[in-house]
Amino acid sequence: MSVTKKLFVKTYGCQMNVYDSQRMQDVLAPLGYQPVDDAAGADMVILNTCHIREKAAEKVFSDLGRIRKHKKAKEANGTDKMIVAVAGCVAQAEGAELMRREPMVDMVFGPQTYHRLPEMVARANRAIGRDRIIDTDFPAEEKFDHLPQQVSRQGYSAFLAIQEGCDKFCTFCVVPYTRGAEYSRSGMDVVNEARQLVGKGTREITLLGQNVNAYHGEAPNGGEWTLGRLLRELSEIDGLDRIRYTTSHPRDVDDDLIAAHRDLPKLMPFLHLPVQAGSDRVLQAMNRKHDGAFYREIVAKLKDACPDLALSSDFIVGFPGESDKDFEDTMQMVRDITFIQAFSFKYSPRPGTPASAMELQVPEPVKTERIMRLQALLAEQQLEFNRNCLGKEMDVLLERYGKLEGQLVGKSPYMQPVHVSGLPESALGQIVRLKITEALPNSLGGELVDAPVQNRDSERKIA
Ligand code: 5AD
Ligand code: SF4
Repeated sequence: MSVTKKLFVKTYGCQMNVYDSQRMQDVLAPLGYQPVDDAAGADMVILNTCHIREKAAEKVFSDLGRIRKHKKAKEANGTDKMIVAVAGCVAQAEGAELMRREPMVDMVFGPQTYHRLPEMVARANRAIGRDRIIDTDFPAEEKFDHLPQQVSRQGYSAFLAIQEGCDKFCTFCVVPYTRGAEYSRSGMDVVNEARQLVGKGTREITLLGQNVNAYHGEAPNGGEWTLGRLLRELSEIDGLDRIRYTTSHPRDVDDDLIAAHRDLPKLMPFLHLPVQAGSDRVLQAMNRKHDGAFYREIVAKLKDACPDLALSSDFIVGFPGESDKDFEDTMQMVRDITFIQAFSFKYSPRPGTPASAMELQVPEPVKTERIMRLQALLAEQQLEFNRNCLGKEMDVLLERYGKLEGQLVGKSPYMQPVHVSGLPESALGQIVRLKITEALPNSLGGELVDAPVQNRDSERKIA
């Protein structure tokens, strides 16, 4: 192994980027790159970027300003070098422009290329003077085939990418352009990665994909596994106690997946199922391939299969042409379905997407007024759900230290953060049964009611 070098990775955007950043670190570890928490003094800085909305992309350019100063300081002695790389979706969408605008960026690479990072880094390190590298090739299959088979140790709750890209082409969205066509990893690859994670201490896995329930990975004996089938296989892994998946498209919720929610206790009763809008007219202009009635029907089927299922969603307000009446349909959808958590965004025109060229763009103040109303309603529903948890018992996977002395924080089956005090450090990584005694807008507090449940082995029991 070569000398240790400092690698600073900053991740923007979605969970897929969090997973990708981790895998980049795995790819670079054999070259001696060790992760550090600060860009100052680093030998390599990677900004793993997000292009989904304008604000996310702009943040990258402002951060690059700060990094420019660190690079100057590091390279002032004339011998040291700081490689500055921009990765992810901004790199994919605006690579050439980025190189032009930011002369100090050494390397730009897209989401499907980071298995080639060692080559790129070697080239940059070998270069006398500057050798600027840009690699924004597709497709995803090559990447997954060439990533290291070994994954490093993750937290008690870990991400696992099973699918990448999207063929849906919602008219507002850059993902089909930045992440490319839909691609599913083989079933056995996924199961092997999950087994490795569990072997290294992970107890909860969230399967990731831009359109995760479009998953159709190669089955070990020919044919294909759906997401429902894959979930069944993963459920068999001893020591894996909780499974989640995100992000789903309503169109791809099939009977297999609904049955998985009925049959698999390890599959958590919480689902992020973006609807985006409540108006059929807007849904059609968004090319969502479903209307409001279809969404309601899917939710009813899922709740039938798993009565305690709770939902989260994504919403866009102010899509081009959205009228007051259209927006009221979104509000009504929220009242009817009820969401225990949700993300809502003002529509942000993205270059190259069909919606950005649509007429009747909604004025900013109208978007602001609408999003405030929507967020107030969603916050009310979230608080109500949290308050309803008071006095109930919940299994909580303890994952990290809390802000207060002696406090640990975990997640409920419904993804709510739950704080508990007075447990020993050794409780981290355990699933404990807590009685909920406090309900806040974004979190809960609880007390231990019982011995830990679902212990994998006796050493992990709380003393
Ligand atoms: N403007 C606003 N929000 C967007 N999203 C995706 N593209 C845009 C856009 N152009 C939101 C959608 C999606 C989430 C990840 O980001 O709600 O589900
Ligand atoms: Fe984007 Fe999701 Fe639509 Fe695909 S399904 S285009 S990722 S919003």
